[in-house]
Amino acid sequence: MVKTLTVLGLESSCDDTAAAVVQQTGSEPARILSSVVLGQAELHAAFGGVVPEIAARAHAEKLDIAVRQALDLAGIGLARMDAVAVTAGPGLIGGVLAGVMCAKGLATGAGKPLVGINHLAGHALTPRLTDQVAFPYLMLLVSGGHCQFLLVRGIDDFTRLGGTIDDAPGEAFDKTARLLGLAQPGGPSVEIAAREGDAMRFPFPRPLLDREGCDMSFSGLKTALLRLRDKLIAEKGGLTIRDRADLSAGFQMAVADVLAEKTRRALALYLAEPVPQPVLAVAGGVAANQLIRARLETVAGEMGVDFIAPPLSLCTDNAAMIAYAGLERFRAGEQDDMTLAARPRWPLDRTSPSLLGSGKKGAKA
Ligand code: KG4
Ligand code: ZN
Repeated sequence: MVKTLTVLGLESSCDDTAAAVVQQTGSEPARILSSVVLGQAELHAAFGGVVPEIAARAHAEKLDIAVRQALDLAGIGLARMDAVAVTAGPGLIGGVLAGVMCAKGLATGAGKPLVGINHLAGHALTPRLTDQVAFPYLMLLVSGGHCQFLLVRGIDDFTRLGGTIDDAPGEAFDKTARLLGLAQPGGPSVEIAAREGDAMRFPFPRPLLDREGCDMSFSGLKTALLRLRDKLIAEKGGLTIRDRADLSAGFQMAVADVLAEKTRRALALYLAEPVPQPVLAVAGGVAANQLIRARLETVAGEMGVDFIAPPLSLCTDNAAMIAYAGLERFRAGEQDDMTLAARPRWPLDRTSPSLLGSGKKGAKA
């Protein structure tokens, strides 16, 4: 008999409180029956970054609301869920704890299995939810908190081919915007400013391109930008619109160059074993950047690899990816019990050394 599974997912590892219901019948494509994301941007705006304690309290207040909305929109009650999935890490510990406690309460109260999900696995499995991509595929996670290449061979089989050793690119975009007096989040405003800019006017470094492998570094770009900006201010007493545009364009081009070249190397490693239908997938807010997206698509095309970028609402933090990852784990016969722990750090690839640094949005795992 073909079995239909319906899973409620919860996500609260950063600054979005999210709940979603995902359903799959047999091997048909999974369907998102609801996906609710309650943001907290206004609570953190005055502080220039996410404040963990404020985030944790807001999650505790909003989780119930998000779950209620997700169940109502799906039109299916908790009693008909097959499992409750929840992000159990990595992330800001207060928020993760709020989600795990809420999920334990729901699962116990309704007598449902509990499935703990690694937030990065949620992102990494999204191409299977959106495009039914077969294993193995290469995933580039590129957001405000993450930047890593993952070779995805199975629902619990991830090999990290490389990642940032300091800032995530989104974080660098946000800092760049702050230094140039542009609005937050920085990615979109730097991208808009860069449209009118000359990327060649200022010399930006291309960090770690001279080093073998797929590791990346973005904090030097921000330092370079700070120096260039201060020099202009010292010389002319301020920045013109042209200066801002040229600095934005130069910075953005440097990020795109680094990501494109490192993606080429990660793809070469991925293609070292024969793959019938090779795929490069991206996730994370930075994947919204037109230049970066175009450069990644070009590299994939040159190497004979399909390029998949899920819709932005599924690239950024959401609970549909958690519900879907929970569904895959549950279908594979896996679940957790009430000892499920909230983990601030939780590397997907247990064999790789952990990455350095901890971004504004918590541990990079
Ligand atoms: O995935 P996301 O919504 O949240 C996490 O970081 O988990 O990513 C947000 C990041 C922010 O740093 C934002 O500045 C960046 O993605 N971003 C962009 C663009 N849109 C959002 N970066 C570059 N270009 C964009 N168009
Ligand atoms: Zn994320």
